[in-house]
Amino acid sequence: MTENLLLLPGDGIGAEIMVEVENLIAHLNGTGQTDFTIEKGQVGGAAFDAHGAAISETDMDKAMAADAVIFGAVGGPKWDRVPYEVRPEAGLLRLRKDLQLFANLRPAICYPALAEASALKRELVEGLDILIVRELTGGVYFGEPKTITDLGVTQHGTGQKRAIDTQVYETYEIDRICRVAFDLAGTRGSRLHSADKKNVMKSGVLWDEVARQVAADYPKIEFSHILADNCAMQLVRHPKQFDVIVTDNLFGDVLSDVAAMLTGSLGMLPSASLGAPDEKTGKRKALYEPVHGSAPDIAGKGIANPIAMIASFAMALRYSFDNAALADRIEAAIAGVLGDGLRCADIMQDGSTRVGTVQMGAAIIAKLDG
Ligand code: IPM
Ligand code: MG
Repeated sequence: MTENLLLLPGDGIGAEIMVEVENLIAHLNGTGQTDFTIEKGQVGGAAFDAHGAAISETDMDKAMAADAVIFGAVGGPKWDRVPYEVRPEAGLLRLRKDLQLFANLRPAICYPALAEASALKRELVEGLDILIVRELTGGVYFGEPKTITDLGVTQHGTGQKRAIDTQVYETYEIDRICRVAFDLAGTRGSRLHSADKKNVMKSGVLWDEVARQVAADYPKIEFSHILADNCAMQLVRHPKQFDVIVTDNLFGDVLSDVAAMLTGSLGMLPSASLGAPDEKTGKRKALYEPVHGSAPDIAGKGIANPIAMIASFAMALRYSFDNAALADRIEAAIAGVLGDGLRCADIMQDGSTRVGTVQMGAAIIAKLDG
């Protein structure tokens, strides 16, 4: 059965690294290993330049209809001054919200060949395999009110303003993300940490209450509460103590960047954003994207690392297309080329062979069927 992918390369290095996914899909289709139909669209600054919006309605419709969305990256200095509502990031946030992709899976795996590239000592990161499960459609990202009001003259001076963001969580939102995390923990190391700031935030108090209720349904999973700040510290102190970490939208954003860097480079980390299974078909809406951003400073130079993008496509095979075998092979091919000593600039080490985006993509394809 043909499966439909919507590719949204976005901005900066997004376009270059997406080409490597297109090449991989062409290879897989051409060798009869997959049967994907591809559509392309625009998001972020690219969409703003073309349509004056961070994503067009046409592309939103395509995203709704697709079996999976493969997303590159958005943003860049060119769009620093566009109105807040149509800034590049708004396209990504709208996709997450409208497709109801509440579960963001961010695995941080340290490839053996890259243990030296980590800022931490080899023994601390070698064999690292963490999964951060980040709530993605709630919390302070979307809570209302979200405003900046002019106060004018106050006791603190003239031109005073007040900015408000709102952190909101309801029971069902915490319940469903925790269930995803407990289920995933059951397929791995059976340990789950829930990170919040219940010592300061009411939303943290509710988060922990609901997480503990869900934990009662999963007696085989070892459950621990951890304060989010301590979690950040423990991630750089002794990261291998973690298996799965479940947390809210904002803490998940921050903690996943920390976890990413443990593995050597932000250029290595894929992610999956999943909705609830459809009641009739059982299929989840899904978007796959690298954790890194659009890296405008290196865009267009042909040096961006396509591994996180390609690994995101592998996650699509695993979570949307029930093809774990092919996902495993792609991940093994990535490990293989790293083992052969190929490195993009972000993970370059002495004695390795420096390659560009295109060479890295081609090497992974060659390894796959080699
Ligand atoms: C991420 C990014 C996004 C986020 C930005 C680009 C809006 O940092 O996916 O981690 O904050 O969620
Ligand atoms: Mg982030």
